Amino acid sequence: MSGDPIYTEMIIEYSRNPSNYGKIDEPHIHRHDSNPLCGDSIDLYLNIDDKKISDVKFDGKGCAICMACTSVLTEMIKGKDLDYVKKFEKDELLSELGLEHLIKTSPVRIKCALLSLKALKYGIYSYFAEKMNDIESAGNLKEEASSLY
Ligand code: FES
Repeated sequence: MSGDPIYTEMIIEYSRNPSNYGKIDEPHIHRHDSNPLCGDSIDLYLNIDDKKISDVKFDGKGCAICMACTSVLTEMIKGKDLDYVKKFEKDELLSELGLEHLIKTSPVRIKCALLSLKALKYGIYSYFAEKMNDIESAGNLKEEASSLY
């Protein structure tokens, strides 16, 4: 694995020591997602207070890229308000780990990198629809989630 230039030190370190790994009991949002072809799957847990992500955790298993991207995503959204999370784009996440090139070069690896973002967008989509009754935002989020990869 370390011979592939995609596996930077940062990615390897995050995959060994993921951030915000664990579970929230009775979270406001829980979303499970998986990449059926590789069998990896994650569960994302979020609490929302005052329209902010007051806590976020994840568990499950995934390859190094999946674990690193999920870790970074949780770090980037923790404490942020829902508006920020709603507008959060995949490029922001990918560039944080130097993985922007995956969009063009690796349709398989891009699924590893964006699994958590898909779970996040679907998770908050349900929240916007059911708890905030914001149907327009919910519709946009659902569309964005389904077209991530
Ligand atoms: Fe399954 Fe990367 S190989 S998420």
